Parts: sequence; structure tokens; C-alpha cells
Amino acid sequence: MNDIKDMKLYSDAYRIFKDLKAIGYSEDDKLNLEDLNQFDQLHYHGTLSVQEAIEAIDIRENDNVLEVGAGWGGPSRYIASKTRANVSALELQRDYSEVGQKLTRKTGLDSFVTHINQDFLNFFQKDNSFNKIVSWLALYHIPDRRKYTHKLFSLLNKNGMLFVEDLTFGKNFESSHKAMLEKKLFANSLEKYSDYLDTCANVGFKIIEHKDMSSDWGNFTNERLKVLQANKINHEKIHGAEGYNKIEDFYTTVSECFAENIIGGIRLICRKN
Ligand SMILES: C[S@@+](CC[C@H](N)C(=O)[O-])C[C@H]1O[C@@H](n2cnc3c(N)ncnc32)[C@H](O)[C@@H]1O
Repeated sequence: MNDIKDMKLYSDAYRIFKDLKAIGYSEDDKLNLEDLNQFDQLHYHGTLSVQEAIEAIDIRENDNVLEVGAGWGGPSRYIASKTRANVSALELQRDYSEVGQKLTRKTGLDSFVTHINQDFLNFFQKDNSFNKIVSWLALYHIPDRRKYTHKLFSLLNKNGMLFVEDLTFGKNFESSHKAMLEKKLFANSLEKYSDYLDTCANVGFKIIEHKDMSSDWGNFTNERLKVLQANKINHEKIHGAEGYNKIEDFYTTVSECFAENIIGGIRLICRKN
């Protein structure tokens, strides 16, 4: 398997502090969540998508929520602040998890959000007490889709709900793209859209809703790249030329893969009956 740090988006977990500094925050300052949310959402449409998840699976006060692949914990903090649910932000990369924990403390949400630095495949919770599981653009990183889909199912209580946004193979995917996707996107378990649904149904989930996000995310990632390029000078001032090049390379790869239909996207809502 490739190294996750080969994916250029992930090379520097501390870069978010440079963005915060650039809008006027110094190291010891408390953080306003809305300011932070401009930077801490590592998926498409930022908190808009998280708000839609809250509504779609009805996350509310005292719910026990697991976010799988939480990155800096952006979605977890937003959920906690809007709903007062208890959120476990599970993240594989130690640096992202540590930075995430720091950000959570600075926003005063530490009584609601717990950062856990673990591989989801090894994650173990004594009492299976999650009634909601959410995940944005993380599951396709994890090898062995059948195994972790089963795990998602078993970690949920009866009637528990799952909200996922994830990548899939696009219609033009060919096996010759595999090595590039593994290296540049750390893609370890991409599936065809229809197989994605089958895997979830086969472990016992009832599929409540699913939506093909491919063209929406194609437009989003194309626009994201254009905005970055238009802001090049400012971005380089904050992150340096190397920092800019890494993000531009990553945004270009993603935008091209969507444009060429090598990858696609899915939003999925399931229930454990
Ligand atoms: C694109 S980021 C999204 C982060 C967050 N969900 C968000 O939207 O801001 C996906 C995250 O999944 C994490 N991840 C990948 N494999 C994982 C695993 N096996 N267990 C836990 N987290 C994992 C990555 O380290 C990365 O931080």
C-alpha cells in the first residue's frame, strides 16, 4: 500500500494555523467556529453538506455520533456546536488528530468532541453505543470495503443511521488508472456506484436514500481549482511556493479525474433496522 502522506492534501497538517494567522489569529487565541469552518472542512461544500447530514439523519442533543476519518475534526465540531451531540472524531493520521484536538479546545467544544487517533479497522469500542455514524470522503481510503462496511453496521445501535459521502469509480475508470489513484488519492477501496449500494445492503443496511454526486462534485472541484489559481499570490504569501504547488497539484488531479469520469461520487443514507 502507498503512504497516505503521498497524497499532497495531507502533507502538512499544521498549515491550517497559517491560514488562521493570516486572518488575524495568534497562537493563544480562542477561535470563532465560523472563522475556523472556512478552513477545517476537507470535503465538498463545507458545512452546507454537514448541515444536510444533521437534518437527513436527525442528529440531536445527547446522540452518540462517530465520524470516521475526521481529519482536523471540522464536521465533528460543526455537528457538536449545532446539536450538542457527543461526537467521536476518529482519525488515522496522528498529526491531523492532534491539530484537530487543539482546534477543538480553542473553540471550547472539548466537552462534546473527543478526538481518537486510530485506524478504523482497529477501532474498538466496549459498548456499541453509536446511534449515528457519519463520514466524508474517508471510507474509500480504507482497504477491505466489505470488512469495514460490516464494522460500520456492527458499531451502530438498532435503528442507528449512517450518512456517507464518498468517492466511487467513474464511468470511464480503467484498471490502468488504479496505480495513479492509489498514489495521488490514496484510493484503497473504490467501487462502482451500484456495487457500493450492494455492499451496504449485503451487510444488512437498509438504504434510505442515495444520490450520484459525480457531476456536482466535478463542478465544485473545477471551481475550487480556479479560485485557488486566481488567489495564487496570496496563497503563496501564506503557505510558500511549495505549499501552493502541493495543493494545486492535488486540486488539479481531483478536478481532472472528475472531468474525465475516472472517479465519481456518492451520498448515501442507510439505517440499521
Ligand atoms: C478527505 S479527509 C476528510 C476529513 C473530514 N471528514 C472532513 O470532511 O473534513 C479523509 C480523512 O480520512 C482519514 N482516514 C483514512 N484512512 C483512515 C482509517 N483507516 N481510519 C481512520 N481515518 C482514516 C484520513 O487520514 C483523512 O484525514
